[in-house]
Amino acid sequence: MQRAKILVACQDRSARQRLAETFRFRYQTVAVDDGWLALHLVNTTAFEAMVIAERLDSLSGLDVAVSVRESGRNAHVPIMLVARAITPVIREMIERGVVDRCVAEGVETGAFLFEFNSMCGERAERAWAALDADVSRVLGTARRTYSHVFAASTADVPFDAKLLDEVARQLVGAIVDGRISAVMQALQGHDDYTFVHSLSVAAVLAFFGRQIGIREGDLCLMAQAGFAHDFGKRVMPHAVLYKPGPLDTAQMVVIRRHAAAAGQILRCSPGIPAEVINVAERHHERLDGTGYPNGLVGAQIDDLSAVAAIGDVFSALVDNRCYKPGYAPEEALRMLGDMAGPHLEPNYVKTFTQVMHDTGFASWVAPPREA
Ligand SMILES: [Fe+2]
Ligand SMILES: [Fe+2]
Repeated sequence: MQRAKILVACQDRSARQRLAETFRFRYQTVAVDDGWLALHLVNTTAFEAMVIAERLDSLSGLDVAVSVRESGRNAHVPIMLVARAITPVIREMIERGVVDRCVAEGVETGAFLFEFNSMCGERAERAWAALDADVSRVLGTARRTYSHVFAASTADVPFDAKLLDEVARQLVGAIVDGRISAVMQALQGHDDYTFVHSLSVAAVLAFFGRQIGIREGDLCLMAQAGFAHDFGKRVMPHAVLYKPGPLDTAQMVVIRRHAAAAGQILRCSPGIPAEVINVAERHHERLDGTGYPNGLVGAQIDDLSAVAAIGDVFSALVDNRCYKPGYAPEEALRMLGDMAGPHLEPNYVKTFTQVMHDTGFASWVAPPREA
């Protein structure tokens, strides 16, 4: 499968290269510095999204955007404008839907990616309307809940626990009635990594639970725990959360705070089960005490948190991130096996690997890969 193409029209050569690098595992970047050349490509090539600088050779970025909206195959493609400042003219262009988003020139990459991903995510969400009604409902409920939780940026703002319960019920319903593969496949088209990862982990845990005979009420608990495990990321700065590369030591310290922050968010939200809070706080703990935030050892880590750690690592391995391509499902399962023992509970890893392998579920969680 070919990666979808994005058009980057920008005069600054190093900015073009930086964007191509940033997108390399998710999109194929077609980069130009000239407005007319951009328009030629718009008329000959299908794009998934466009990043257009206001200042271009021969034709302004706004002129290009207006022409895109009048083009055939690319008329509805999301457009992000990169401008010196958001002027009244640009604001009007956004209101008219000519441009979807505008960011300032020189914006830090994490903030840029946050805006770009939410712009493309909205496009994916519109496409859900055409899916089977039950599949579309699960995805819509999950997205609304995630947006509700992430609308705040501190750990002391509660959220409505009933929404989390509803996500879990619908997700378990999709597992029971056999629609979960369609849910997972549609989910892979979304660009918000933390959202995709959260719902993937929820599905992985509940699916695994069902395969090993856990009763339906507890499957909902597993799905809730999976969906909420990274809610603490709402307090993370975008520069860290969306950094297109490995984190440095100081950034690692910051990102590791998400486990404790998730605990705080869940504790201040009335009606969240204790098991769900445990998973949020402990999914990065490791059997040998090398995990965080508390360096718990062996039996100090409860069973659900130990299983959640496996689902979390598996989902992270198969996902494309801006700094790494996703591993093939079978490779990810093999790597999971290597982590059994010192880090992950070996018996659970063995059963998990068997279930994911035998049911084919592993491939549903993985994003499409290039042939
Ligand atoms: Fe996490
Ligand atoms: Fe996670």
